[in-house]
Amino acid sequence: MSKKIEIRDICFDYIGKNKAFGALENINLEVDEGEFICILGSSGCGKSTLLSILNGLNKPKSGEILIDGKKVVGSGADRAVVFQNYSLFPFLTVKENVMFGAKKSLKRKNFTKEERIKRVNGYIEAVGLLDAIDKYPFELSGGMQQRVAIARALALEADILLLDEPFSAIDPKLRLELQELVSQLSKIHKKTVVFVTHDIDEAILLADRVIVMEPKHIKQAINIDLPYPRIREELVGQAHYEEIHRKLISSFYENIEQNIYEEVKL
Ligand SMILES: Nc1ncnc2c1ncn2[C@@H]1O[C@H](COP(=O)(O)OP(=O)(O)O)[C@@H](O)[C@H]1O
Ligand SMILES: [Mg+2]
Repeated sequence: MSKKIEIRDICFDYIGKNKAFGALENINLEVDEGEFICILGSSGCGKSTLLSILNGLNKPKSGEILIDGKKVVGSGADRAVVFQNYSLFPFLTVKENVMFGAKKSLKRKNFTKEERIKRVNGYIEAVGLLDAIDKYPFELSGGMQQRVAIARALALEADILLLDEPFSAIDPKLRLELQELVSQLSKIHKKTVVFVTHDIDEAILLADRVIVMEPKHIKQAINIDLPYPRIREELVGQAHYEEIHRKLISSFYENIEQNIYEEVKL
């Protein structure tokens, strides 16, 4: 399998008034084409910072990101992002929100206007929102808004999907539906996915590989060799699932207390 993303020796500092705060130190990670990885870590360990560097919103202090073997600087049409807070335009309908970014990228691919509309409608259908196509965000529930954000990201037709805790504000039942949706769609559309979460169960359901982070560093990578589709109720109790679950729990919680004490030391 070819490497889609290579993160090489990334360091990143937030610069404050008088001093710099080191948020990431020497991050190295490779993601294969078509691979679905979850970055799992407690709050404040640097997950969003890493994703923002991948997305090109933040520039690393040192190190580099390669996509398809080429160094990237800044954002690009090869990456689409879904954030926790939906970030839809409130004054645009579902269809217009999805069309907004897609127009440029679909034009670049030489699709005619009719084809562009067909494709955008196809993505809205894929997330189950054809009935709401002309509604505005305020008329939609949080779960529906997040479906729009997913359709919008898919419509960019980027190879890479970056998602930052996209379902953490969604109630548990809807959350399972959306996890299933993202899992299916990423496979149908052959995406390479980097999905940030602090939820161990979510990481096991979705990922081919979970990258456990501790503050500033990658701690461990754990392969999740469970077949898809993964139905939580069916997995719970199976020896292999429980073994992976235990491994993740101990990796995730080990040192957390110690790190918190370090943070509050005066
Ligand atoms: N804009 C910022 N300025 C200064 N420090 C920041 C800023 N954003 C995040 N941080 C700090 O960087 C660390 C990593 O943050 P973040 O990447 O948001 O963590 P996570 O997404 O894992 O919760 C945290 O200690 C956080 O307080
Ligand atoms: Mg975050």
